[in-house]
Amino acid sequence: MPTSGKTPVLLDLTIDNITPNTNRINAQCEDRRLKYLMERLVTHLHDFARETRLSTEEWMAALNFLVGCGQISSDVRHEFILLSDILGLSLLVDSINHPKPPASTEGSVLGPFHTHDAPTLDIGSSMSSDPEGEPLLCICTVKDTAGKPVAGVKIDIWETDSSGHYDVQHSDRQEPSERCVMISDSEGRFWFKGIRPVSYPIPHDGPVGKLLERLNRHCWRPAHLHFMFAKEGWDNLITALYMRGDPYETSDAVFGVKKSLVVDLDKVDAATAKEYEIKEGSWLLKHDFVLVTKEETEQLRDKNAVDALKKLGLQLKLVDHLPVPDLD
Ligand code: BEZ
Ligand code: FE
Repeated sequence: MPTSGKTPVLLDLTIDNITPNTNRINAQCEDRRLKYLMERLVTHLHDFARETRLSTEEWMAALNFLVGCGQISSDVRHEFILLSDILGLSLLVDSINHPKPPASTEGSVLGPFHTHDAPTLDIGSSMSSDPEGEPLLCICTVKDTAGKPVAGVKIDIWETDSSGHYDVQHSDRQEPSERCVMISDSEGRFWFKGIRPVSYPIPHDGPVGKLLERLNRHCWRPAHLHFMFAKEGWDNLITALYMRGDPYETSDAVFGVKKSLVVDLDKVDAATAKEYEIKEGSWLLKHDFVLVTKEETEQLRDKNAVDALKKLGLQLKLVDHLPVPDLD
């Protein structure tokens, strides 16, 4: 590609001038958000190398680690999501993008096991095909922050089987199991039958597992059920409910647990068993989810961004709700 007349002369680059020069050549980029992201990325990466006096061996080890993440990844194995999760970056990005006003349901990590092939089931159906699982009845509502029911919400629900594996982790998977999609009724209700969640290790037979080992960290997630709520005009809510008392409740390998998402299980009594057609004594989980509108979320996200940038003393403005340098 021929270089334009404005291309900076890149010669005799040193520890001290490599950063501004890299940023100068990248500044030819016409997309101001990409230009800003690259400028900050290069600056932080270079500072990291200078600050840690990064050795060539360490740098190569890091590159080989990333190659390993790519090599083990497939349609059903997302090692880079896992890496982002164990670095706390997934939770951070989700929290920035989906701020929650008080009394709304907090978000949690999506993880790599959501699929798009879950069957849409009628309210009240069972999504489990695991005879070893302990039966669980979940009775839920979806409301807005004023307590008004939200009807017609598409809810993805997924969990592991009783062995702690998602269906996609079984190489002989024929069809989706332990997952479904439901639509909330006119009163914002939905209920379904699943199994009592169990704690399970995140995939740890790859580079991320080895890294956790080197860091002297365990690879377990506390027992949970995943939920994803979607409806036009409402902020997408990706969350999970965590079972109180799980041994990993306060040490989740991917930082997903929030106090407001920790729930208690009860037992189904005779009347409920009859009404919901489930065995008396099964596990019972009742939960009310609270959604926030897209508009309210956007306003809160903008406000948080302006406050955070001010605190950092940065001269930025929001364009399409994202910061770029304010050069005007
Ligand atoms: C999960 O809960 O499905 C999960 C989340 C992050 C990493 C691995 C698994
Ligand atoms: Fe999970």
